[in-house]
Amino acid sequence: MEFYLINGGPRKKYNTTKLLNRVYDGIKNELEKNNIQEYNINTVRLYDLDYKGCKSCFHCKKIGGKYYGQCPIKDDLRELLPKIHESDAVVFASPIYFGGITGELKSFLERLMFSKLVYGKESLASKKPNGIIYSMNVKKELSDEIYEETVFKTTEEYLSYTFGKPYSLKVYDTYQFKDYSLYENYLFDEKEKAKTLEKQFPKDLDSAYNLGMKLAKDTI
Ligand SMILES: Cc1cc2nc3c(=O)[nH]c(=O)nc-3n(C[C@H](O)[C@H](O)[C@H](O)COP(=O)(O)O)c2cc1C
Repeated sequence: MEFYLINGGPRKKYNTTKLLNRVYDGIKNELEKNNIQEYNINTVRLYDLDYKGCKSCFHCKKIGGKYYGQCPIKDDLRELLPKIHESDAVVFASPIYFGGITGELKSFLERLMFSKLVYGKESLASKKPNGIIYSMNVKKELSDEIYEETVFKTTEEYLSYTFGKPYSLKVYDTYQFKDYSLYENYLFDEKEKAKTLEKQFPKDLDSAYNLGMKLAKDTI
């Protein structure tokens, strides 16, 4: 069995990565609980790869074309995209940057999803258990107000069209700096953030673990 965890954030040891690591653990434990030994959980850091977004060449939609249903661009996504389409399950994760998923994840999803999109018909992609995790500075109340429709709903509608309805985990009010005293900031209170880190973030990590378990269960 093949699983893909796509990390759309740049930081190797912070919120998004920690959450995705717990998804990894959840998948692993669920599979092993079910005596499944043959599996790979592939973690991909998009910031390590060299690629750009869709170039609108339309080779993927050319009737009878050599690249119908595939992205023909020869870069670091060339071999990766088909592997994800052939995999058993996939999870995406991203910090929120300027009211959206990161540019890297957006460009990646364009390439992954557009090659399988057929105007007016079902996607050519195989349906599979999938999920998306967002981490962000703002609290839930503000996120509900400003990101629910614009970011989460839109992204998840495209994922639903391509792979089927995703599991969705939103992680709010994240701890951003190692030491708040070193950086200019008049908006976020370090003590409040520390409280969230202590009380809420462990629960978020558990939710990520559960997302991994559910995803694995769906593939069995
Ligand atoms: C360039 C940039 C833009 C950001 N924009 C937003 C934003 O619009 N809304 C928000 O809630 N947080 C924003 N943040 C904060 C991050 O989303 C938040 O700290 C996130 O948890 C970081 O994930 P990480 O710890 O995995 O890097 C931004 C951070 C950066 C660096």
